Amino acid sequence: MRDMKVLIVGSGGREDAIAYKVSQSPLLSELYCIPGNGGMAQRGKILEGKVEDVPEIAKDLGIEFVIVGPEAPLVDGIVDRCREYNISIFGPDSRGAQLEGSKIFAKKFMKKNNIPTAEFYIPSDYNDAVIYIKENGLKAIKADGLAGGKGVVIPEDLDSASSVIYRFMVERVLGKSGEMIVLEDILVGREISCIVITDGSNYCSLPIAQDYKRAYDGNRGPNTGGMGSIAPIYIGEEIRNKIKDRIIERTLEGLRREGITYRGVIYLGLMLVDNDPYVLEYNVRLGDPETQAIIPLLKDDILEIFYETVTSNLSLSKLNLKPCYTCCVVLVSGGYPGHYEVGKEITGLDDISECILFHAGTKLVDDRFYTAGGRVLNVVGSGETLEVAREKAYGCVSRINFENMYYRKDIGQGVSNID
Ligand code: AMP
Ligand code: GLY
Repeated sequence: MRDMKVLIVGSGGREDAIAYKVSQSPLLSELYCIPGNGGMAQRGKILEGKVEDVPEIAKDLGIEFVIVGPEAPLVDGIVDRCREYNISIFGPDSRGAQLEGSKIFAKKFMKKNNIPTAEFYIPSDYNDAVIYIKENGLKAIKADGLAGGKGVVIPEDLDSASSVIYRFMVERVLGKSGEMIVLEDILVGREISCIVITDGSNYCSLPIAQDYKRAYDGNRGPNTGGMGSIAPIYIGEEIRNKIKDRIIERTLEGLRREGITYRGVIYLGLMLVDNDPYVLEYNVRLGDPETQAIIPLLKDDILEIFYETVTSNLSLSKLNLKPCYTCCVVLVSGGYPGHYEVGKEITGLDDISECILFHAGTKLVDDRFYTAGGRVLNVVGSGETLEVAREKAYGCVSRINFENMYYRKDIGQGVSNID
């Protein structure tokens, strides 16, 4: 397939990174984005309209290939609906997307397929949950459904655990998503993000990355959508093989046994505990902000890989990577992940040519950029060592400004290999 009209769905840094790479592909003719952001507006055409209407919009515009960034449309069945119109779309169908859309489905799937994950219990109601934690100690509390990053709590004591469970199951602060929960053992170890792309039978692994979820330096403060990321993380062969044999291959076999032809991304959030990998979560899309660190490392044509995936023709088992490291620093609006203001003019973007800039919550108005969200920009440095990548990223960050801009100062600092 050549001269493809491609539509990217989403509006974050991840989607701008996908747009950046797709726009370099010789297979592309025109790029469209919905809802898009200030950066994507420079790479393609922003479409008006709702994400729910993507199948109809794509059909009207003669779009040949849709790439979905975020999880919610996948869980809601955008792939199933595009296929009804014979539009090729990258991502799992709604059955496959349950890996992320239902933590209960994912935990049962892992148990059935002998995939290492924390021990867990599914309480029938609030009282059952509270009795369980009183008898068995503190547990990670996870809402069953999608909750935009607010569905997992690692409580500090039994009282706060009970009140989180009450808010999820009785007050229903997350709506239907928190009606059912999973209680699981709290694991302690090093967290990594391991992302594979599969066409249902073959797969290839992206470089392993690490994200920084907490708001403040030293991994303190509230959880966010991600304050930075680095890649690749070096992992010794023994652990790599455990990830491949115990997790990736059992996951793919398990999906096949369920009768699910999974074509898209499987993101494994892993915890390494004493050199053994455990799955904390499955996501059915690329990580954000991991993608912003990974994409600049890829030599291959991502549009070709995505298209091969959808046509069950994935030919690469090993990606061709640039021999360098990347460090992505996320610039956020002061106050994020709590209350923050938008509409602030962003300056200094002309003077950062040694980094790659991916936009997230930005808006382009009359050739000027303004903030339009909590996470605003992703500044990615690259170099032959992580230290060089980090220095470049922070060098560029120091030239960018908007009112109340905030960022972590320790992304990529003191990172060790995993042997
Ligand atoms: P999840 O959406 O399941 O990945 O959870 C979000 C974050 O919560 C993870 O990235 C971990 O930092 C943390 N987390 C989730 N499950 C556990 C667990 N069983 N033990 C310790 N931390 C966890
Ligand atoms: N960086 C974590 C995620 O994308 O879920």
